[in-house]
Amino acid sequence: MFENAKWIIHQDNKQYEAVSFKKELNLSKKVKKATLYITSLGVYCAEIDGVRVGDFILAPGFTSRKRVQYQTYDITKMIDTGSTISVSVGDGWYKGKINFGTDEGGPEKKKALMAEIRILYTDGTKDVIVTDESWLVKKDKIRYVDLYDGEKVDANYEDAYVNASIYGNPPSVKVVKQEGVYVKEQETLRPLRIFKSPNGDTLIDFGQNMTGYFEINVDAKIGDRVALSVCEELDKYGNFYNENYRDAKAEFEYICHEGHNVYKPRLAFWGFRYMRVDEFPTEIKADNIKAIVLHSDIKRTGYLDSSSPLLNQLFSNIIWGQKGNFLDVPTDCPQRDERQGWTGDATVFCRTATYNYDVNQFFTKWLSDLALDQEKNGHIPHIIPQTICWDWSVAEHSGAVWGDASTIIPYQLYLTYGNKEILKRQYTSMCRYIKYITEHTKEKYLWSGCEQFGDWLGLDAPEGSYRGSSNEDFIASVFYAHSTSLVAKTGKILGRRVDKYEKLYEKILAKIRKTFKEYKTQTECALALYFNIAEDKKAVAAQLDAMIKENGNRLKTGFVGTPYLLHALSQNGYAETAYNLLLQESFPSWLYSVKQGATTIWEHWDGKNEKGEFWSKAMNSFNHYAYGSVADWVYMEACGIHTVEDKPGFEEVLISPHPTNKLDHLSARIDTKYGTISSKWYHFEGKVRYEIITPVPATIIIDGKEHRVSKGTYVF
Ligand code: BGC
Repeated sequence: MFENAKWIIHQDNKQYEAVSFKKELNLSKKVKKATLYITSLGVYCAEIDGVRVGDFILAPGFTSRKRVQYQTYDITKMIDTGSTISVSVGDGWYKGKINFGTDEGGPEKKKALMAEIRILYTDGTKDVIVTDESWLVKKDKIRYVDLYDGEKVDANYEDAYVNASIYGNPPSVKVVKQEGVYVKEQETLRPLRIFKSPNGDTLIDFGQNMTGYFEINVDAKIGDRVALSVCEELDKYGNFYNENYRDAKAEFEYICHEGHNVYKPRLAFWGFRYMRVDEFPTEIKADNIKAIVLHSDIKRTGYLDSSSPLLNQLFSNIIWGQKGNFLDVPTDCPQRDERQGWTGDATVFCRTATYNYDVNQFFTKWLSDLALDQEKNGHIPHIIPQTICWDWSVAEHSGAVWGDASTIIPYQLYLTYGNKEILKRQYTSMCRYIKYITEHTKEKYLWSGCEQFGDWLGLDAPEGSYRGSSNEDFIASVFYAHSTSLVAKTGKILGRRVDKYEKLYEKILAKIRKTFKEYKTQTECALALYFNIAEDKKAVAAQLDAMIKENGNRLKTGFVGTPYLLHALSQNGYAETAYNLLLQESFPSWLYSVKQGATTIWEHWDGKNEKGEFWSKAMNSFNHYAYGSVADWVYMEACGIHTVEDKPGFEEVLISPHPTNKLDHLSARIDTKYGTISSKWYHFEGKVRYEIITPVPATIIIDGKEHRVSKGTYVF
């Protein structure tokens, strides 16, 4: 592919300025088939005769800076002899502020386009049109664009075309076939409410915190201005509040042409629920604007439902958290000046993610980037793709749990989808990660003495710290053990010799047990139980249960403890305590945020207090999926649907529900490649009734009694 196509640029191109390439095709014969191969350094939007090519928004996506994906479009029906192809290119992830605010590479680093059109004529002859100096280029009507800041468009702007230049010194980047899932427009939200805020702003509420953009349509005079800003939450007075976006301006400006204007942004996205109308040619009405939800085109596979409206809203928030943060890569949040592929967030959410949606291909692509960006010494950068940032490659900043994305996510894809191929592909990366820890720890068989994120945002954090008070060396060592065990299992599946990893695991386990004799926090107890560190599980489970009760049935855990907390409880005889946490309505809890009106998952348990005051503007996202990982407890423990390790991908299933009197009913459904598994329980005439559907052989455990069944529908 791209044998003769060149990277072409606008010689005089600055950061934030979109450019527009053009080629008049001037074909002499009738076309039988035409295919466009295209990619860019930056993000592109291609059109043929004014009609958008394909439906991949923000193509070519977000990848390691070592590679860029190209896309293939059948354009047979779009082109004619006199057609023109034009392509707008903006900074995107390549050169924008997402590189931690820097103009990385300076003015020499240019946005660029590479394309090739292969044509087969009706007479059997062929033609290839490639990007070269014969293409023209100008500054785009999108006068300013940045993923964080938004788009500024002047519909009347007309720059003169000049010849494109060949990019003399392009960054070394491999052009590869599209591997990920296209980001597409998914659904449209109409304004729920247009109203005046107490301080006189005109605000629009779309009713849902979401990721995407919007489309405006308005009759205007030439030069009329549309100016919009977005936010996730209103302040305690009901006024617009976007200080939590930090340096991301998240604005939109559009200068109208005469007559009817219809426009939606092409090279940016926003995370928002509310919009402030700073300027509009007319009094804005619901018909003038709609919000368009964007995310990777992943298929929904998992559904949860209960008798509690609050819990159902939580389930919805978890789904929206995933929609909002599965935009080509798994991001921490979609709104502020981050939107990065933070590995730790993906580690803790990936199990839930695999049940909610088919994210097999989505993560496969991201894991390719992870392996590519993994450093020479085996360290996993904290964000994948690695954008330019401070040097994290040093051992002093290691990042347990964050780096374990390299082992936990491939193994989860194996469990949920039976994807053995991903294990093959990632195995070297997984082994290198273990080698990295082994070589950098200060104390053999532990992971100690390195800077860690700890139990990130744990509520037991010391004053002024983001890190919960759980022992960071303990957390790191537990994940060192866990990842080593996953490498051993993976190696075994692949038929490799794994005694080295099995022995290493045993040694780490023994050393952890010897070193960390007691567990002082909820997170430490949860990890000790869940990862089989505790030797006296009964005692530790009782301790954890007591800690939670003493705290008024409330948790204190952060990013690391939370995903395992409820599992640790229900697996050790304390399902009711787990339910108490799940159904807790007062702060801190999942349902607290729901009662505060959340429509997505908050980054902090205390993102907003009861008085409607915000935790801080420094780091307070209202769309951070990490705590949404509680959904896997509902699928797996509350409804009981478990993968079976040696029959992965739900070739067989274990169903072992934990009902409670606190809910009238609860159900989970997962669509697998073998069919739909569903598990529902409800109270009926003083007893619990279970309805289970399995498309595969299953082990069903009800009240401690095991039933081996073949596919079918079962009622207990
Ligand atoms: C991100 C988190 C991330 C963390 C790690 C934050 O700024 O938003 O989700 O995992 O940094 O330090």
